Amino acid sequence: MTVGIIGSGTMGSGIAQVAATAGSRVLVYDTKVEALERSRSKLEKILNRLIEKGRIDEGKKNEIQGNISYVNSLSDLKECGLVIEAIVENLEIKQAVFTELESYLAASAIIASNTSSLSIASIAAALQKPERCVGIHFFNPAPLMRLVEVIPAIQTSPEVLQSAVETIGSWGKSVAVAKDTPGFIVNRVARPFYGEALRIYDEGIADFATIDHAMKALGGFRMGPFELMDFIGNDVNYTVTETVFTAFYFDPRYKPSFTQKRMSEAGYLGRKSGRGYYDYAEGASKPSPTEDKTLTNTIFERILVMLINEAADALFMNIASAEDIDNAMTKGVNYPKGLLSWADEKGIDWCVDRMDALYEHYREDRYRCSPLLRRMREQGEVFFNDQPI
Ligand code: NAI
Repeated sequence: MTVGIIGSGTMGSGIAQVAATAGSRVLVYDTKVEALERSRSKLEKILNRLIEKGRIDEGKKNEIQGNISYVNSLSDLKECGLVIEAIVENLEIKQAVFTELESYLAASAIIASNTSSLSIASIAAALQKPERCVGIHFFNPAPLMRLVEVIPAIQTSPEVLQSAVETIGSWGKSVAVAKDTPGFIVNRVARPFYGEALRIYDEGIADFATIDHAMKALGGFRMGPFELMDFIGNDVNYTVTETVFTAFYFDPRYKPSFTQKRMSEAGYLGRKSGRGYYDYAEGASKPSPTEDKTLTNTIFERILVMLINEAADALFMNIASAEDIDNAMTKGVNYPKGLLSWADEKGIDWCVDRMDALYEHYREDRYRCSPLLRRMREQGEVFFNDQPI
């Protein structure tokens, strides 16, 4: 099957590499010729680096490049059985592209969007055959991140969903199927990692370095929340939070932080601007954390239980299966453990007690315990075993 990619920016280029590496013939289209040229030369560099590292040989490089053609017109995608769109995040533009694209494609072709924040239902609505539309959400960088979320819209046919899951699985990716709701799985469940860390800082409980240290040393996370926000970019991370918050009709659980907003406004975007929560200038020294055991444990447990509560609530609201929620967080954002397995390990009692203690203290809806955790405690259930551990 020939795969079409629309948009040859960061994500489109990465997805094209994934499909071509798996042996698919790939046609890449972008409105900007320069973007196509950039994509081609970037791939050349990436493949040369993979050869240097001994991951692929010259033959594989030629095969991958040979599988990809760069085309100048949307109509050139007519032979594709699957087209994945990765253009600018704008509903009207995506809808216009989908409407035109559909006029060129065979009736059986699948049209997918890599959108992070728009609903698949709204994009599918632009099509004559909305049942052929599905969300296929890769993570950046697409060739390295193992997870892909596949999102059926209410219009999507079961055959299209199954075919999308099979194709992405055949490309060597781990698929998590998610309901068409804001943030899907990862961008929803991960919110407290940033939001609760910012809240702890905003309350003056600890500084950035201490919060990061707590999550790395006690939680085993590869990066602390502030290091990760600096890595992602405070502008990008803030926008995701604000988008999720707005899309959830201002649920206080997702409320953005003024601290991050100001960082973004000031241009303290993180690594890419040389300064964020930390200073990335040459020779700048990194502040040392406070290594107080009680303090770091309080920070770690508070952020962890908020993450667990979010994961449990995603399951409660049928966003995805327990397996897919855990899979999504370990493979989409490299968490050291799945959050629901972590809940089992800490004990459902512990989770409910911690959430209730936070709620008792703050009396804010943000800290409400998921009804699922409460019900599981009453019934002595755990997420992944038949018997309580
Ligand atoms: P990007 O800005 O790097 O690339 C977008 C490309 O689309 C550009 O080359 C642009 O010329 C092209 N384009 C714009 N309008 C077009 C049109 N009408 N027809 C054809 N090409 C057009 O953007 P990026 O970061 O690759 O994002 C693309 C999509 O993927 C967005 O929907 C975004 O939300 C989503 N996404 C982005 C992630 C990220 O970390 N960057 C992660 C997951 C999803």
